[in-house]
Amino acid sequence: MQAENSIYADRYAEMESVMLSLADCIRTAADTVKSSTGTNPVEHLKYRIKAQDSMREKCRRNGLPETTESALEHIYDAIGLRVVCTFLDDVYAIRDYLSACADVEIVNEKDYIQNVKPNGYRSLHLIVRKDGYYAEIQIRTISMDTWAALEHQIRYKKNVGNSALIFEELKRCADELASTDVSMQIIRAAINEKDG
Ligand code: GTP
Ligand code: MG
Repeated sequence: MQAENSIYADRYAEMESVMLSLADCIRTAADTVKSSTGTNPVEHLKYRIKAQDSMREKCRRNGLPETTESALEHIYDAIGLRVVCTFLDDVYAIRDYLSACADVEIVNEKDYIQNVKPNGYRSLHLIVRKDGYYAEIQIRTISMDTWAALEHQIRYKKNVGNSALIFEELKRCADELASTDVSMQIIRAAINEKDG
């Protein structure tokens, strides 16, 4: 809900509408991909407008004044969507169809699947612009999402002992999950070949 002293001022309704049309665009992309691969590429889709407190905290962290302009023009994830895909190829298929959506411009892409973060984090991050608003779209597989969710929980727990060991173990889990993604995709290809 929009607070009285919202950092988004009177822009909240427009932000919601941009977010919902991006979600629609992703659903349409999913239908198109499904008709060519035979499997549903999107396991689930989530979206949110960044909460007041998080946005104000992010402004402070970035040395920006807590204004609507900072939130909408200098920070790019006031609107955020997360697309959890079934298979690895689906991540890139969704990305390709997104750029074909009406009035959606991809302004930045960070590929943490090709360039894995040192801790093992994998995901494709897009910053898009639509109708004068920025949005961050994170596209990842179920495996990558599972890892990110668990790592996020652990990271926020204080006093984690043996941190170097834990870091290595988390990285190992991420790499194991990534190799499972590759295997699952090979299995799907083998099944499709058999059917076709
Ligand atoms: P932020 O200031 O957090 O937006 O970081 P950034 O501007 O460097 O962007 P980046 O693309 O690296 O990360 C944006 C978002 O991706 C984060 O807010 C998280 O949702 C997610 N993310 C990035 N790195 C990690 C990670 O190591 N673990 C988890 N669980 N999520 C991550
Ligand atoms: Mg971010």
